[in-house]
Amino acid sequence: MTKVPVQFTLNGEEKAEFAESGATLLKVLREKIGDMSVKGGCQQGTCGSCSVIIDGALHLSCLTLAETCDGRSVQTTAGLEDAGVLHPLQRAFNEGFATQCGFCTPGMLMAAKALLDSNPAPSREDVIEAIAGNICRCTGYEPIIQAILSAAHANTLNAA
Ligand code: FES
Ligand code: FES
Repeated sequence: MTKVPVQFTLNGEEKAEFAESGATLLKVLREKIGDMSVKGGCQQGTCGSCSVIIDGALHLSCLTLAETCDGRSVQTTAGLEDAGVLHPLQRAFNEGFATQCGFCTPGMLMAAKALLDSNPAPSREDVIEAIAGNICRCTGYEPIIQAILSAAHANTLNAA
């Protein structure tokens, strides 16, 4: 199998790997780099659990070839915490019981972060649309929607 060099920034840190040509970003993140915060569910683009942010936009890492990430910036849930302090979204998910088995949570958090980065004061409809590609089998979605709205509200208050 041909290996190709891939260099990208992962949560602010430079990473350089040799990836098998055709390997997905999901596979490289988990199996080469050891970022187990990214979850592989369906591996075919329908569950959203593998969502990451690449150059500011939400992407499914199971449908993204690692080699296309050369020179780009990748963010995963592992980078949300800052020096031991949880990101407001992580706090809101914990406090609002928005996670049960937790398998969907990394993808939900990244979808929510991509939303709040571009729209700090989303409506309920905006939140529902932003997580429409993310499947959760446990929560019934309402606690997740409320947690995202609550994190947005807290951020808006902090910024005021
Ligand atoms: S694992 Fe990528 S969308 Fe399901
Ligand atoms: S908390 Fe279990 S799938 Fe969402």
